[in-house]
Amino acid sequence: MTAEALAAEYTTTADMGELAPYAGGPDLTDAASHNGSVQLTWEDGTQADFPLMWLRDHCACTQCRHPQTRERLVRIIDLPETLPEPAVTLTESGALHLEWPAMEGFGVHESLFDAGWLHQRADASRADPLDVDRKTPWTSAIADALPVVDHHAFMNTEAGLSDWLQALDRYGFAVLRNGPTEPGEVIRVAERVGWPRETNFGRHFDVVSMPDPNNAAYTAVALEPHVDLPNWQRPPDFQMLYCLANESEGGESTLTDGMAVARALRDRDPEAYRVLTETEIDFRFQDESSDIHYRAPVIGCDDYGNPTVLRFNNWIRDTLRLPAAEVDAFYRAYRRFWQMLRDPAWTLRFMLRPGEMIAFDNLRVLHGRDAFDPNTGHRHLQGTYLDRDLIRSRQRVLERSRA
Ligand code: OGA
Ligand code: ZN
Ligand code: ZN
Repeated sequence: MTAEALAAEYTTTADMGELAPYAGGPDLTDAASHNGSVQLTWEDGTQADFPLMWLRDHCACTQCRHPQTRERLVRIIDLPETLPEPAVTLTESGALHLEWPAMEGFGVHESLFDAGWLHQRADASRADPLDVDRKTPWTSAIADALPVVDHHAFMNTEAGLSDWLQALDRYGFAVLRNGPTEPGEVIRVAERVGWPRETNFGRHFDVVSMPDPNNAAYTAVALEPHVDLPNWQRPPDFQMLYCLANESEGGESTLTDGMAVARALRDRDPEAYRVLTETEIDFRFQDESSDIHYRAPVIGCDDYGNPTVLRFNNWIRDTLRLPAAEVDAFYRAYRRFWQMLRDPAWTLRFMLRPGEMIAFDNLRVLHGRDAFDPNTGHRHLQGTYLDRDLIRSRQRVLERSRA
């Protein structure tokens, strides 16, 4: 049902200034103010306490929230630190109405809250739906059920775009098929989602074997599983590689769920995992015009020790600056992780065809390729990067009309 249809079905009187649908939730059955908050009960039995300052801060009237930008105008700093009790009523249409008595510098003020909007916010601990971890770890067996989306469906239908976005969430990669082989298509694909992220390699980059390469990818050598740009404080979240030509001998592509491998390393060799998560090492790219450096562990973790960011890229690794006593332990752990990343049981192998594109979560899924022989035919990929914020933004905007 579209947002408009929802709004028509459940007549709302309170415009909350949100584009995400909120109307149509359970009705409020009770509201009472005591001890500095308003206690609400909905017909589905949900109960929640909303502190007075929270309610006043979220007033959606046109003085408190800009009707055009939908951004907050009300400033709690202008209000007394302790608010007087408002008169609380439920309107006929089930909205919460508050009438705030006049207070220093302010006349009487009315706030109206949609019951569905409040219901969505009843549980403050509920995460944004996109923050719920939907990652499905995978092994080489994913070859039998590849997340593939048709290029035409991706470019022209919401369902195609949405399938692709969901595959990125779930598997950390998605394949587009049957696209054109016009140069620049990778940018048109990126623009279907958001704005490509420009780097020292440009708005897009051409992966071809070239005479004066400034990067291993621009040669014909094999690329071991790696992430791109670990030498940046903020490496790109997602990468896209679009195949325009692939006629050389060799050059098969690989993808590896590095996060799944890192978890397996934690189980099988906790000491190696500890070393790779605790030891900061240097990554550096240098050419005539740039010198981009960052120091971080190979496996970045959250507070619970779960891997969140991988920085595995052997050719971008700079001088190993570690106390001599730590060097052997580092190399041992690094070798162990590398051996697992190379294991065919974890590796998805495939030949990219012209008009195909892989997109992958650059912090989770490692990519690689076999060496190829440029004398046997032309091989040309074009790549670009995308920020996770834009991927999620597109998902949220799509969800508005699917709610
Ligand atoms: C890259 C890369 C892989 C390939 O450009 O980042 O890893 O198949 N390329 O050429
Ligand atoms: Zn207001
Ligand atoms: Zn790469």
